[in-house]
Amino acid sequence: MSLLEIKDLKVTFRTNDGPVNAVNGLSFTIDKGETLAIVGESGSGKSQTAFAAMGLLAQNGSATGEVNWDGRNLIGLSQRQMNKVRSDQIAMIFQDPMTSLNPYMRISDQMAEVLVQHKGMSKRDAIAEATRMLDAVRIPDAANRVRMYPHEFSGGMRQRVMIAMALLCRPRLLIADEPTTALDVTVQAQIMQLLGDIRQEFGTAVILITHDLGVVAGFCDRTLVMYGGQIMEEGTTEEVFAQPRHPYTKGLLQAVPRLDRDDGDLQTIAGEPPDMSRLPAGCPFSPRCATMLEQCPAVRPELVTTSDGRRRACHLSIEEVVQ
Ligand SMILES: Nc1ncnc2c1ncn2[C@@H]1O[C@H](COP(=O)(O)OP(=O)(O)O)[C@@H](O)[C@H]1O
Ligand SMILES: [Mg+2]
Repeated sequence: MSLLEIKDLKVTFRTNDGPVNAVNGLSFTIDKGETLAIVGESGSGKSQTAFAAMGLLAQNGSATGEVNWDGRNLIGLSQRQMNKVRSDQIAMIFQDPMTSLNPYMRISDQMAEVLVQHKGMSKRDAIAEATRMLDAVRIPDAANRVRMYPHEFSGGMRQRVMIAMALLCRPRLLIADEPTTALDVTVQAQIMQLLGDIRQEFGTAVILITHDLGVVAGFCDRTLVMYGGQIMEEGTTEEVFAQPRHPYTKGLLQAVPRLDRDDGDLQTIAGEPPDMSRLPAGCPFSPRCATMLEQCPAVRPELVTTSDGRRRACHLSIEEVVQ
C-alpha cells in the first residue's frame, strides 16, 4: 500500500470573478521513503495540491476527491483530526521559513512547545531533543544557538531551523514547497544535500515541489509534471529528463541551464501560464503548444499509463513528441 494516495483531487476557489479551478482531477501516489518531485511553472496548482492534502486551503477554497493516508481519506476530517496528522505524520516546509517560525519566540521555546504538546515531553527533555534536531540539520553550536531568535540566523540557517522543526515529531512524509527558491545557489545545494541526508537518516518520504527542474535531478526518484492543475506526464526522474514525452516537459527542460550545452540554446516557453478560471476544455497547454493538433483545445487527452509504467496526457504519439 502507498504511503499517500491522491485520487481525482479537485481544488476550487470561490472568487468575485467566478470559480478558479486550481487543481483539476489529480491522481498520484508516493511510497514509503520515496522522493517525488512535482514540477511545473508558477500557477500550475502545485502548492494548492499540497495545501489540500494537508487541510490548509485558504478560506475560499474547497477540495473534493481522496487523499488517502494510512487507509483513511483526509478530506473531510475535522480541523482537530487534521492537526493531529500535521503534527506528527505529514510535515510541510516552505520557501519562506518565517511562515513556520514565530519571530518573537526563542527557537528552543517554539521547538519545545511542539514536543511538550504533542509528545508529552518535559520541557527539559524537549529542549534537549530540539538541540539534537538542530544538530541533525548541521547547525553548528546547536547547544547555544537553540536559545536564539529566528532573526539571528542567516537565510540558509533559518531554512535548516524550519527543517528541524518539521522533523521534530518524525513525520513519515515531508512536503517541501520551493524550499530553496529564495536561496543563492551554494546554499541551495547545501539544503538539497541536507534533505537527501535526512531522507537517509530518518527514512522520511519527501515530496519536493518546485518550478526549477535544476534541483530535481539527483534528488528525486520520480518526477510528476503539472500544468493547469493536471498531470502532463510522470516517470522516474531519469526517464523524464532523458526522454520527455510531453511537449510541455520538453519546453521546461529546454529552459534549464546545463553544463553540457551552450547556454545560447536556453529557451523559455512562449506565452503565459493559464488563467485557471478560463481553462480550455481540452489540454490546458494547447494554447502554448507548438505541436498542437486540431482536437487539442477541445478534447482533454486522457492520462495514459504506458507499459513501462510512465504516464502521459497528450494527443501526440510518443514518437511524435520524442523525435
Ligand atoms: N485563495 C485563492 N483564491 C483564488 N485563487 C487562488 C487562491 N490560492 C491560489 N489560487 C490560484 O490557484 C492557482 C494555483 O496556484 P498554486 O497551487 O499556488 O500554483 P503553484 O504551482 O505556483 O504552486 C493559481 O492560479 C492561483 O492564482
Ligand atoms: Mg507554489
